[in-house]
Order: sequence, then C-alpha cells, then structure tokens
Amino acid sequence: MNITFIGTGYVGLVSGIMMSYLGHNVSCLDTDTQKIVQLKKNILPIYEPKLEQYLTPLLESGQLQFLDTYSATLEASNVVFITVGTPSLPSGAADLQYIFAAIDNLSSWINKECLIVIKSTVPPTTCNQIITYLHAKNLHFPVASNPEFLREGSAVDDFLNPDRILIGTNSKIAEDLLREIYLPLITKEIRMVCTDLVTAELAKYSSNSFLATKIAFTNEMANLCEQTGANIKDLTLAMGLDKRIGEEFLNAGPGFGGSCFPKDLLALAQVAKTFYTECQIIDAVISSNNQRPYDMVKKIYYILNNCSISEPIDISPLSQLASTLYLEQQQAEANKYNLPSEINFSNKTIAVLGLTFKAGTDDIRNSAAIKIIQILLDREAIIQAFDPMGMLHTKKYLEALNYNNIFYATTALSACQNSDLILITTEWAEFKALPWETIKSQTKNPIIIDLRNILDADQLNSIGYKYHCIGQG
Ligand code: UGA
Repeated sequence: MNITFIGTGYVGLVSGIMMSYLGHNVSCLDTDTQKIVQLKKNILPIYEPKLEQYLTPLLESGQLQFLDTYSATLEASNVVFITVGTPSLPSGAADLQYIFAAIDNLSSWINKECLIVIKSTVPPTTCNQIITYLHAKNLHFPVASNPEFLREGSAVDDFLNPDRILIGTNSKIAEDLLREIYLPLITKEIRMVCTDLVTAELAKYSSNSFLATKIAFTNEMANLCEQTGANIKDLTLAMGLDKRIGEEFLNAGPGFGGSCFPKDLLALAQVAKTFYTECQIIDAVISSNNQRPYDMVKKIYYILNNCSISEPIDISPLSQLASTLYLEQQQAEANKYNLPSEINFSNKTIAVLGLTFKAGTDDIRNSAAIKIIQILLDREAIIQAFDPMGMLHTKKYLEALNYNNIFYATTALSACQNSDLILITTEWAEFKALPWETIKSQTKNPIIIDLRNILDADQLNSIGYKYHCIGQG
C-alpha cells in the first residue's frame, strides 16, 4: 500500500516510520524543509526511544521517504494520513487551520479514490466539516477518522501493541482499506473498533480526558493523605487492584502535562460549550491540575521553613515586587491559585532534577516541572536544574521569557551542589541510582522533596536526609 503522512510532528513521524515497518511504502511530507533535510540524513527531530533503529534501515531500503513539497508524487497514494498539529486557540478550542491547509494542498494532487484519514486529534464533527468543505469544491474523496493513542517515550511499543485500533467511517471501502493497512497488527489479535466519524473523534478526547481525570483525582487523594496521615501508594494499590478501576494512571505527582492532556481537556470543554452541554468534571480537572504547581510550591516553602501546610494562608498582594506589568500578572495568577504573598525563596538555592513533562522524552511542553520553576523564580529562588534530555528546550524556553536566575547543570550531582533543597520533578529512572551519600555531603541542607515518589525513603532517611514525598502524612 502507498501511504503518505502529512505532518512530521510526533504522531506523524512515529506512525509514518512504523507503518513503513509494517511493510507499506510510506512518504512523510512536511513543509518544514529544514526538518526534512535532517530526516533524510537519518536525524530525528525528537528523542523517542527505539525509533532510530527502525528509521535507519527503512530509509536505506527506500521503503520510507521524506518530502517537503506537495507534488505529483502524491498521486500514487492509496491513503493519506493527516497528522498536523491542532494547537489550542486562546479560547481553548482546537485550531483547525493546519488541517484545512493540508486538505487544500493535497486535494489538487491526490487521485480521486485516495482515502483521506484524519489522525490528528480533532473535535467531534470535524471530519463531517471536511467532507462538506470538499463537496463545496466538488471534490468527493472518502474521509475517515483514525485517532492515535501513542504515548511519548513508549510510542514504538504502543504502535506495535496497541490496546485497540479505532476507526471512524461511514464507508465500507474506507473501513476495508484501513483493515488492510493494520492487518499485521490485527492478526496479533489486537481489537479494531469501527464506528462512525463523530464517535471516533469524541472517543479520542474522552480517553485522554478520562486518564487525566484519574491523575487529578489521585493528586487530590494525595493531598487528603497528607492531611489525614494516610499513604497514597498503598491507597492507589488498594484501589487499582479492583479491575474496574485498574492500576495504571494512579501515580500522584506534580500535575499532568505534555502536548496532549492539557490541550485536549481545554478543547473538550469548548466542544461542550459549543454543543450547549455541561462537562463539569472536565472543568474541575482543568482547574485541579492548574492549581497543582502552586500547591507544590507551597509544600516546598512549608518544608523549607518547617511549618505546617495546613496553616491559614494570606493572599495579600506581593506589593514590593508588583512594580511591572509582568509581575502584576504573575501576582494575579498567584492570587487566583491562593499562593500567599509571604511565600518567598530569596537566598534559597533549589536543585530541580527533571524538566520534561515525564520521563523518556525531551518534551517540556506544559511540563509541571517548568511551571514550578517559573513560580519559584518569580519568588526569588535560585534554581540549579538538570534533566537527562530536556536541557536544551528548557534553556531556550526560559531564556525567551527572560528568566536568568537559573543555572543549567551538566550532571544531577552538580545541580545538587550547595543547594538548600533537592526537588525531584520527573521520574527518570537514573535519579534512583544517584550517589545520594556523596550528594548529601555536597548540599547545604540534606532535604529532598520527591514529587514523583520514586526514591527509597528508608534508604535516604537512614543516610541522614529529610525525605518528603507526595501523599504521605
Ligand atoms: C497521552 C496519552 O496517554 C496517549 O494515549 C495519547 O495518544 C497521547 O496523550 C496523545 O493524545 O497524543 P502522553 O502525552 O505521551 O500520552 O503522556 P502520558 O504518558 O499520558 O502522560 C501525561 C502526563 O500525565 C504526564 O505529565 C505524566 O507525568 C502524567 N501522569 C501520568 C501522572 O502524573 N500520573 C500517572 O499515573 C500517569
């Protein structure tokens, strides 16, 4: 089968390479020439474990190619997958301009039987809008929806062993074509769910939103554990062993991030408004997760200052700092999330281990670690940061926002030197194996706050740390 992917972002690149591995002739097209030049040289623009080992032989064999222009070569495609971005508009709704630009560009080159498949995450009814849009131009390509469920950091394994393959279409021909494409996976007894276009589109949003709800719920239970003396690890174990609940996505942490959950929840909330439906749970999850980094900063402050997290809080303005518009905006946001004005970290050096939104990726988009760093810097902390993969993106991002009081360490050990507190913000496995005794002798204060609950409390306490984690009284 000849397949073209439009858009070599995260989903397009992983799916394109892996579809080619399934035996199809795949072209990946992106108008970012620079990116395509690099890809042709076997250089990936993202860090994704295992992906390069698939890319190299497929490129060499010619079964996979990269293009930077729409041209007559598209005519040979049996199927075109659209995998362009659908970022948030200021309202939170999904911006569909790249989807429609791709449709415009490809429709003058593809053959009239070519199936257009929307793989990008799009709000329900988008595919029907595309069909109407094409009909108005007297174009009658079949259109299907095939949402993606890959996770960054484990996308290759997720592609080869998906929990399900979801297809939305009103056409038997389109369904059969997609079955043929995925045949190598379906024969492994992976279930294919075939439904209508709108249901497939909405199922993607509801899956991500449900997972995000699980995390936000767990984080709130962790708060309650801290106040009551319960233990979140045992609590989630007890919950998760109930098959109706399931063990996954019950890890308490600093809040969910990434390029999908935050964006998709906002878009779903907008979809609900558009269709005059109340989605109160979605609104609550957004608000709970927005609150999370502020709660983490309060926790850091109270631990550093040896006081109780349940003390009454004062939300008077940060008068001495609110002299510029930027600081006023920061203060307004801090007030919104109840961050008291006395919370200040001047003369405190905080080592932050972990910058990416989760382990296994170099992606810092909507990372809770970055948000926490910004709040700490706004409150005059000095940050010494380290991440195995996220250093470059973080430096670029924070420098553009004029954050200066942050030092980018080359190792976790050097980030911790002379620090008043060590904060674990991303669950990189290598942090568990750090030489914690050596690190202790080089810190000012042996305090660790583990926002991912990955370290061994007994071991760290036994060597003299004051170890704090999430969700333990
Ligand atoms: C998510 C979905 O899991 C994928 O199925 C989906 O295909 C993808 O979005 C997408 O829409 O493209 P991803 O964004 O890569 O994948 O990340 P997740 O592994 O889902 O993690 C999201 C966030 O939740 C991370 O910040 C992670 O640290 C946090 N998380 C996850 C927790 O805090 N606790 C958990 O138990 C699990």
